[in-house]
Amino acid sequence: MRIVNDIAVALATYLEEDIADVAISLSPPPRPEMGDVAFPCFRLAKRFRKSPQDIANDLKICFETDERDETAELLTKIERIETVSGYLNFFIKRDYLALSILRESMEGGDRPGASREGEGKTVIVEYSSPNIAKPFHVGHGFSTFLGESIANLYEYGGYDVERFNHLGDYGTQFGKLIVAWKLWGDPNALETSPIEELTRIYVKFHEVAEVEPVLEDDARAAFGRLEQGGKEEFALWKHFRDVSLMEFNRIYDRLGIRFDNTNGESFYSPMIPAVVDELKAKDLLVESEGAQVVDLEEFNLNPCLILKSDGSTIYASRDIASILYRKRAYDFDRNIYVVGIPQKNHFNQVFAVVEKMGFPYPESNIHVAFGTVKFADGAFSTRTGNVIILEDLLNTSVAKTRAIIETNNPTMESSEIDEIAERIGVGAVRYTFLRNGRERDIVFSWEDVLDFDGESAPYLLYTVTRCASIERKAPDRLLERAERISDDELGLLVSDDEQELLKEVWRFPQSVATARESHEPSIMMRQVMTIARCFNAFYHNAQILRAESEALGAARLVLSRAVGRTISAGLRIAGIEPVEKM
Ligand code: ARG
Repeated sequence: MRIVNDIAVALATYLEEDIADVAISLSPPPRPEMGDVAFPCFRLAKRFRKSPQDIANDLKICFETDERDETAELLTKIERIETVSGYLNFFIKRDYLALSILRESMEGGDRPGASREGEGKTVIVEYSSPNIAKPFHVGHGFSTFLGESIANLYEYGGYDVERFNHLGDYGTQFGKLIVAWKLWGDPNALETSPIEELTRIYVKFHEVAEVEPVLEDDARAAFGRLEQGGKEEFALWKHFRDVSLMEFNRIYDRLGIRFDNTNGESFYSPMIPAVVDELKAKDLLVESEGAQVVDLEEFNLNPCLILKSDGSTIYASRDIASILYRKRAYDFDRNIYVVGIPQKNHFNQVFAVVEKMGFPYPESNIHVAFGTVKFADGAFSTRTGNVIILEDLLNTSVAKTRAIIETNNPTMESSEIDEIAERIGVGAVRYTFLRNGRERDIVFSWEDVLDFDGESAPYLLYTVTRCASIERKAPDRLLERAERISDDELGLLVSDDEQELLKEVWRFPQSVATARESHEPSIMMRQVMTIARCFNAFYHNAQILRAESEALGAARLVLSRAVGRTISAGLRIAGIEPVEKM
């Protein structure tokens, strides 16, 4: 809001500091009795050799005695200034607060609080990264939903975002698959459900290899031939990859997710010899029990294995090659990995190795970790042992949603129910992965996920449809009046409920920025939920379409629109597309 900037300018003059330094500490206070904008004076105590409270009092006097025109103008918008426990608290006049928040929201259109702070900066967000020939389980779902939302948060801030999917398409397991396929593969089954068939023969390989260990040697040999470019092995590997990707793409299409780069581990494998040469040249490789490792003692980490004793490469070497490639090809400002907590050590090692190699700005490589997904007993039966497949979870959610909508809307067309149930059911799952701090485990329960009155996507979506329905029911006169609303009319929104709701709308942009910086979409999600709760309370107590006066009704309609747009924007950042009705 402009007034915050004006306050910052005045404070900067009194303190002889940079405006930006002042502005950064001006924030909406945690409690309403502390006003609308607060300036904490604690960090100034040292410089002025005074208590924060005395500094706050001095600053208050500066405002009161400042005779410049711009300050007089600023003070017309301020109700009062208070000093409490080292804070300078500004109470903005209610009418001015209402009109400026709403004008700003209108200017922001469908992307309130979108910024251009990231212009010219490239951010790689790597997420999803499933393994070829293996099920796309809920853990990959966590990475996919979280990663997509983080990518959206960066885009919202004007960054150039490159979405990476680092497919697990290389490694010794492909030797096993090739051997297993030649022994037991069923081409028809591979055609109809590729991953199920590949999982079947992979499991069988391990069972049989227990009693016939020679299979392990065959598999190693097959992988060796693949690495040497053997024609048959390559063709099989490529086929497994293609059919798996078809299955993954079906999920991505359903979720509306597109990647800019799907180079998997296999893509980086040929780059490893150059990495090994560089490590040698920098004298970083040491031998350990026949293998080549990089010592990481100064990082308090175990040595990072680069080449196994038989000369074959591993997961970490491919990640090291990948960082160097990404830097060369994209010159990123940030390189973000959305991968589960269990791989923390892996990424610490990989980042440490490149740092030892002289990687510029090592802190630009970031592991964004997340917890595990759990299901209350009996909440979910699985088709494949204890692995829960994301598609099964989505299908169950959509089916349950469909049943609820059917009950609530007995007259709705079946095809329409299908479409709405898909959007809400998938959205409900996505929200569940984003609502809490990402390092916390998720305990899935359908009562919570699909609680239309609770902390859920259906509740948020429902609130958006409520805003839309107010809009639909509004008479033309009111719509027209809202279209050319005046500042005086907006200034009518001075009740406690209205002011509280306005301030929550105002906090949305900051929540987006904080969510982005901490890679915690939950921070933004929580703000969106607060706006929705506040709006529904307001809606309960105040008339919009039958307000005391037409002017007040029009102003409330503008407020309801701002709420609808803000919640919708938050949902879209979460990857959830709002629905018209439900
Ligand atoms: N494919 C791996 C898995 O499913 C995740 C890959 C993470 N990304 C990376 N660059 N290592 O566990």
